Amino acid sequence: MISIKALTESPGLTSIPPTYTFTRSPVDEPVSDDPEDSIPIVDFSLLTSGTPDQQSKTIDQLGKACQDWGFFMVINHGVPESLMKAMADACGEFFNLTEEEKREYGGKHVLDSIRCGTSFNTSVDKVLFWRDFLKIFVHPQFHSPSKPAAFREISLEYCKRTRELSKELLKGISMSLGLGDTYIENALNLESGLQILIANLYPPCPEPELAMGMPPHSDHGLLTLLIQNGISGLQVQHQSKWVNVNYIPNAFIVNVGDHMEIMSNGKYKSVVHRVFVNEKATRISIVTPFGPSLETVVSPAPELVHRETNAPAYTGMKYKDYLHLQQSSQLDGKACLDHV
Ligand code: SIN
Ligand code: FE2
Repeated sequence: MISIKALTESPGLTSIPPTYTFTRSPVDEPVSDDPEDSIPIVDFSLLTSGTPDQQSKTIDQLGKACQDWGFFMVINHGVPESLMKAMADACGEFFNLTEEEKREYGGKHVLDSIRCGTSFNTSVDKVLFWRDFLKIFVHPQFHSPSKPAAFREISLEYCKRTRELSKELLKGISMSLGLGDTYIENALNLESGLQILIANLYPPCPEPELAMGMPPHSDHGLLTLLIQNGISGLQVQHQSKWVNVNYIPNAFIVNVGDHMEIMSNGKYKSVVHRVFVNEKATRISIVTPFGPSLETVVSPAPELVHRETNAPAYTGMKYKDYLHLQQSSQLDGKACLDHV
């Protein structure tokens, strides 16, 4: 299947092929024009090195962000800007490899350790997305494409740092739920937790109002960390409206995944988001979801179910089975959670 990058580089492309044409309805849904509507900002340095009062305020802030938005932006996170830039450059260079070179990673199985392609899953997508991707399983086993040459070293360090950041955030979130700081880490076996690195490339689109970079969906796993270049496009569903994410350069955008929703018995919701494309500029995002180990059966934390004297809102499911289900289905809002 031809990449979107190659498609957009074909001379004289002025319209998009019908296979990429969505119905107009998603574009017509209301987008918030309230400048106050923006995802919360969390200062990570206060969580790790603030006074006890600042730490407990930040934990409350994290809990509120997870409950009210399911999305937040993390600043002062300690991951070097030079590393974030090197990672973004390496991903850009990967997409610049020839179609032939990239074909080596066009794995067929949804759980292959390195896979690149277009859309989400071209064997089930009814309309294809205006997106090329590279998806790599980076923990507990680390994998890397051999080209570009620097990719391995940079991604190894980047994934280590984002995993550490995710774990620290999960400690704060665990405490915000009234659980011990290492509760999530221990209950969901994060020592061998699954981390994936996904690079998304959204080339300019001649008819952006007819295409989608990624349709509405929620993420599997516990937390997803995301960085992007300066081009906007990500929208988050909030109180029945779509809200544009206004990215602060060098921040991490963080969102709650389906397994946080399950573990918290629905207190923290994974939130539906989507990606628009535009006519002029290429958008790149680098996304690192972090979740339980593949063999872990994720169920609501008994402490949370008992305390609220209600029944568990979800049954348990092995993370591996959930992942397989989500990756081999069409991306469709939170439909996958209905199976749990
Ligand atoms: C995603 O939802 O996985 C990608 C989001 C983005 O590109 O901003
Ligand atoms: Fe996502």
